[in-house]
Amino acid sequence: MNRIEIGTSGIVASEVAIGCMRIGGMEPATLDALISTSLDLGIDFFDHADIYGGGKCEEVFAASAKRLGIPRDKILIQSKCGIRQGFFDFSKEHILASVDKILARLETDYLDFLLLHRPDTLVEPEQVAIAFDTLVSTGKVRHFGVSNQTPNQIELLQASLPMRLHANQLQMSVMNTGMIDQGITANMKHDNSVDRDGGILDYCRLKKITIQPWSPFQYGFFEGVFVDNPKFPKLTEVMTALAAEYGVTTTGLAIAWLQRHPARMQTILGTTSPDRVRQVADACQVTISRPHWYEIYRAAGNILP
Ligand SMILES: NC(=O)c1ccc[n+]([C@@H]2O[C@H](COP(=O)([O-])OP(=O)(O)OC[C@H]3O[C@@H](n4cnc5c(N)ncnc54)[C@H](OP(=O)(O)O)[C@@H]3O)[C@@H](O)[C@H]2O)c1
Repeated sequence: MNRIEIGTSGIVASEVAIGCMRIGGMEPATLDALISTSLDLGIDFFDHADIYGGGKCEEVFAASAKRLGIPRDKILIQSKCGIRQGFFDFSKEHILASVDKILARLETDYLDFLLLHRPDTLVEPEQVAIAFDTLVSTGKVRHFGVSNQTPNQIELLQASLPMRLHANQLQMSVMNTGMIDQGITANMKHDNSVDRDGGILDYCRLKKITIQPWSPFQYGFFEGVFVDNPKFPKLTEVMTALAAEYGVTTTGLAIAWLQRHPARMQTILGTTSPDRVRQVADACQVTISRPHWYEIYRAAGNILP
């Protein structure tokens, strides 16, 4: 498993992470298999959020880590806060209270990374700065990042923060390439040319912020899995042929395609299947050629001018 530095934090982690949004209802033995297989494959980064399963996902993860006897310093744990029922909340009080509850559910003293989950337009960056400062000085959080944020939103926060933001978790997959499309089709009267994120891909590369693609197997907004989906015949045909050529599965190829991007992203896998995690780990060893990378991009329905 290749390893990358997360932002400029000095923390080096597996280039793919296990997303824990769907683990809340798993049988203990199956969850243990998912976590232990991931660790065996060199995947040591686990992504949570306070809202996943209403907190259940963090609890069952902690229980599994305890059963497996995983030393805390052998894994990197990230969680997120800021989404509440019907609104977003980056207030100092909410951030501090959220982290205390996250730590209690995860049965740990600290988070390696805390991300702000979805932009709160009522954000007061000075309040976030006080919260983050408190979390560092009390040892509860080591590093910070954001999720679903534009360059200007990051700049706004960063202007008040004493520490760097190291990660930005963004929706991205072979079938969700908004952050790539705009650059490829710049200056055209085409839907792909619409700037929907302020040029976040190039911004994160320039600032050395690690992009963490979420929902890497989904199309639309949780509409379903595109891999081997007859709804996308051209993509399925191309991915099946290239997967055979590279000696990987189509599931693995979907992640190898993301990892091929020189932005050096850290993809967050949502699968609960140890076998699929293994397929991804195998595929992370292959480097897709430039023509094949573009072939997959085009097969997903995108144009090249
Ligand atoms: N920051 C944000 O706003 C945000 C939003 C959403 C998610 N996330 C994070 O991103 C992680 C991943 O999101 P996600 O779970 O929506 O993404 P995903 O990895 O695209 O989807 C995983 C789901 O697809 C299913 N699946 C079916 N066929 C598959 C195949 N061939 N390969 C892989 N999976 C297949 C999996 O089932 P099996 O379990 O049976 O494999 C699982 O239910 C989450 O766990 C969370 O940590 C962040």
